[in-house]
This record gives sequence, C-alpha cells and structure tokens, in this order.
Amino acid sequence: MALMVRILFVILFIGFVASDPNPVQDYCIAVTDSETYIPCKNPSLVTVEDFIFSGLNSTGNFSETGQAVLSVNVNNFPGLRTQGVSLARADFEVGGFALPHAHPRATEAVCVLEGTFYSGFIDSQQKVFAKVIEQGDVIVIPRGLVHFHKNIGEIQGTLLGIYNSENPGKSMFPTAAFGCEVKEELFEKVYGLSAEDISKVRGKLHLCGKAEAGFN
Ligand SMILES: *[C@@H]1O[C@H](CO)[C@@H](O)[C@H](O)[C@H]1NC(C)=O
Ligand SMILES: *[C@@H]1O[C@H](CO)[C@@H](O)[C@H](O)[C@H]1NC(C)=O
Repeated sequence: MALMVRILFVILFIGFVASDPNPVQDYCIAVTDSETYIPCKNPSLVTVEDFIFSGLNSTGNFSETGQAVLSVNVNNFPGLRTQGVSLARADFEVGGFALPHAHPRATEAVCVLEGTFYSGFIDSQQKVFAKVIEQGDVIVIPRGLVHFHKNIGEIQGTLLGIYNSENPGKSMFPTAAFGCEVKEELFEKVYGLSAEDISKVRGKLHLCGKAEAGFN
C-alpha cells in the first residue's frame, strides 16, 4: 500500500514538473541560436522603471465604431513578462461599441469606470449572457469566448479590462468570419451569400486592402 502511494506521488510529481506553461502568444518559432535568444533582462540592470507603465491617463484614438483602446500587455510593457496579468482601457463615445472579439489566452474581468454599457458574451453552446451594466459593475468574460460592449448611455464611457495573461491576444470575430484571405466560395456556402455581398461586408469592415482590420 505504502509503495502504491509512493508511486502515485512520483507520477503526480512528474506530471507537475513535466507540464508546459500555457502559450503566451499565438505561436513561437524557437530561436536555436543561444546568442540571440535572451528571454529576460539581466537582473543587475533592472530598475523600478521596468515595473512602471505610464499612459492610461488619457484616451486612445477613436475608431469608426467610436471605441478607443489602450492595451498594456507584454508587448508594450516588458515588466509583465511571466506575471500572468495585463490590462486595457477602452473609452466609448455615445453609441460607440466594440466589435465582437475574443481573447484566446485570457479570462477578462471588465469594470465599468464610467457610463452605461450593454455587455455580454456567447458561450460554446451559443448561449448569450448579456446585460446592461453601469459604473462600478464588473463582468467576467470567460477565457476565449466571443464578447461585446456597447455604450448605451448619454455620456462617454470607460471600461477597464484586466486579463490573466501577459499577452491575452485578440481574435476579431468579423475578421475570422469574413477574413480577406479566405476563399470567397467558402463564405458563400457558409452564409448563403453572393460574392458581391461578401465583398460588401469585407469593405464595410475594412478587412481587405489594409494592413490591419479597420476596427480594434
Ligand atoms: C499622463 O501622465 C504623464 C506622466 O505619467 C504625463 O506626462 C501626462 O501629461 C499625463 N497626461 C494627461 C493627459 O494627463
Ligand atoms: C493616435 O494617432 C496618432 C496620429 O495618427 C498617433 O501618432 C498616435 O500614436 C496614436 N495613438 C495611439 C494610442 O495609438
């Protein structure tokens, strides 16, 4: 019996140490040249400034949907590396909205700092969880699920999103659903739309002919 317990312990322990951390980016092509692969700054060069980010005290640039997002993640704040957290400030003009999107690597807690929003997400059973939320309310968006926010109030609104990943990623639902590089025939079949309709949708969403999708 004692031996079985010990074996079980060993198996559990191996399971523990042998598991990989979750990916923190969409992909990572390994750099095998050890001279160029430097994962962390030399600790003796680290200062308090490496742990400070400034710039969330103003709004970003508003998109066509009336949303301005300032993301603070490992890509612009290297101090977050390996800490499993990041955040974003999103401001919305009256009537402004976030296009449906998902964060593949993070659960998000969204706090309404200002304003009134219609917010929600859709689970993998297609069930919709959506509600009007107001200043001081927090909605949790489970990891990877498509979600949305719309400012339905009379004033500009502000959301603060907190993610449990240094690099949550952002999959835009419209980009995935009408992506420019995907052959039109596929979407014609999926949606029962004509090629013309599809290019109309793509045009509206600026999916083609721009380096980035028009909306953030
Ligand atoms: C935001 O804070 C920075 C310092 O961190 C300051 O230089 C800047 O003027 C502030 N901007 C606004 C709009 O308050
Ligand atoms: C907003 O737009 C200006 C002008 O295009 C650009 O210089 C600036 O970096 C943008 N700010 C953000 C936060 O993207």
